Amino acid sequence: MRGLLKLSVRAVSCVPRRPCSGGRPPAPLGARVLTNPRDIFQHNMWDHVQWTEEETEEARQKAEQNSEEKIPVEEQSKYDREAHKYWDRFYGMHQRKFFRNRTWLFTEFPELLPPDEEQEQDLCSESGSREKQQPCGSCTLTSHMDTFPGQHAAFRILEVGCGAGNSVFPIINTIRSSKAFLYCCDFSSQAIELIQEHPDYDPAVCHAFVRDICDTTSPFPFPPESLDIILVVFVLSAIHPARRAQDVVTSLAGFLKQGGIMLFRDYGRYDLAQLRFKKGQCLSENFYTRQDGTCVYFFTKDEVHHLFSNAGLEELQNLEDRRLQVNRGKKVVMHRVWMQSKYRKPYLIPD
Ligand SMILES: C[S@@+](CC[C@H](N)C(=O)[O-])C[C@H]1O[C@@H](n2cnc3c(N)ncnc32)[C@H](O)[C@@H]1O
Repeated sequence: MRGLLKLSVRAVSCVPRRPCSGGRPPAPLGARVLTNPRDIFQHNMWDHVQWTEEETEEARQKAEQNSEEKIPVEEQSKYDREAHKYWDRFYGMHQRKFFRNRTWLFTEFPELLPPDEEQEQDLCSESGSREKQQPCGSCTLTSHMDTFPGQHAAFRILEVGCGAGNSVFPIINTIRSSKAFLYCCDFSSQAIELIQEHPDYDPAVCHAFVRDICDTTSPFPFPPESLDIILVVFVLSAIHPARRAQDVVTSLAGFLKQGGIMLFRDYGRYDLAQLRFKKGQCLSENFYTRQDGTCVYFFTKDEVHHLFSNAGLEELQNLEDRRLQVNRGKKVVMHRVWMQSKYRKPYLIPD
């Protein structure tokens, strides 16, 4: 927990914005900026907090200290090999109660909203002239599969590591009356059961399935280059950063259409969750295992950029979102660091 008195708050004068895809409005990355430290307990969250050098150094030292003792190498492989069992146990115990619904989803990621019919027609007529290079959403994809769930959808979204559906159900309820279709997968069969048993689950708009995204050789229930959006929220952090993450992102990128976008949100370096780890829980630099055996990595902006650009995607947004979370009752402030990024598969330029 970091103290209020030590806190220095400098407002960032302009909110970083970048144009987003599809002519939709840019995602506002939180506009609540603390300009007067005396106002701190008036809200639960403040955006764009800059850390002083002293705060950064303090965080670096805490992370260094809690990483001093690494889990012995011979024990480490079980966290990778049995990861799905730890997550199964997690969902068996917590059911749907642990994660909150992602209320920020459509504000931060308006790209998830299916294009309206007018936009869709524009896209279709555009792609008509370059049909071979850029399959449009409503064209039938027959090259690799005869039929597949969501085949006739005009807009296809995949969420990987969807858990108990904290993003899935807000998306289902938004796309229900559109021509969009959602796929969602997790390697925890318990999590997928929770989704399939939920009263809002509707196979007409959603297909939930068990899939380990580290297993890059098993097929997905849709063809390559068939997805408009892939949502990757707090899941890459659960995967071994050095051994697995790049292969996962590269293989997922193969399922995006040209112009399709990967939307990423996850833990950032020196987030409160990292600094709270005790000694003896560190697997490798900035990668830890929790008491329940699930793992978590804390990313930097450069690492995120390398992951996605090495997969052939181009940056639309890559932000480190530093916030102050305030417990007004207990008068405590906490530094949160989240990464938020959007990377697009480039269009092929015809010869
Ligand atoms: C921190 S939870 C986030 C769940 C959900 N994305 C959300 O934001 O509420 C991480 C999820 O990733 C899943 N996961 C971790 N590694 C995975 C893998 N290799 N393949 C598929 N799912 C995985 C876990 O089972 C868990 O549901």
